[in-house]
Amino acid sequence: MQLIQAKDYEDMSRKAANIISAQVILKPNCVLGLATGSSPLSTYANLIEWYKKGDLDFSNVSSVNLDEYRGLTADNDQSYRYFMNTNLFDHINIDKSKTYVPDGTEPDSAKACSRHDEIIEELGGIDLQLLGMGLNGHIGFNEPAAEFPKGTHCVDLTQSTIEANSRFFASIDDVPTQAYTMGIQSIMLAKKILVIVSGANKAQIVADAFLGPVTPEVPASILQMHPDVTVVADADALSVYLERCKA
Ligand code: GLP
Repeated sequence: MQLIQAKDYEDMSRKAANIISAQVILKPNCVLGLATGSSPLSTYANLIEWYKKGDLDFSNVSSVNLDEYRGLTADNDQSYRYFMNTNLFDHINIDKSKTYVPDGTEPDSAKACSRHDEIIEELGGIDLQLLGMGLNGHIGFNEPAAEFPKGTHCVDLTQSTIEANSRFFASIDDVPTQAYTMGIQSIMLAKKILVIVSGANKAQIVADAFLGPVTPEVPASILQMHPDVTVVADADALSVYLERCKA
């Protein structure tokens, strides 16, 4: 695992965007695994800016997203499809028909999830997977559990995730309780993984995930086993990790 220390959120975002840009330049027809949440917002803003300057071309890029709330339509402003369109896809020259977010409107969860795994396979796998990290160490929507889930599956969101994500909704009662998410195996099969973490509220979980034991109780801890992981974290997120390294 390579750790890149960033000063703050904006520095983390520029560094992450540089890594994604390098991927797109080196392999113009690459498959990007993309994430939602507040962590990647400024990373996406940088990519948009550099695209507009003429430095990046997404015309041959495909993308797959980690997760989607079950039951939300693409035009619902809380759906992850809507998030991706408004925060990235609408502003770059990616072919939207080559951007894949799990289909939250498919009521048959087995069908929605197996279709997402088939798409990843048909694309030839993910070249670079971008990940944020939840407060409890979840990646995608893989919540702490007794076992690491494998492929894309339907999850019941934990109360702490519902509470954390309620900041994006009018009220906590509007937060969906289920989601379709790529599993740990789907994520681990990505050729490269880029994790971005910012903020003091993530400091404890960063230390647990990357210095603690590999356990499904801290889903992100599995990343210690991946051969090509880069973590870009800011000073606040790294405070406990760096203290523990010194001890
Ligand atoms: C959500 C998403 C994750 C994301 C996590 C962290 O639950 N499903 O993909 O990484 O929250 O979000 P944030 O970046 O807003 O802290």
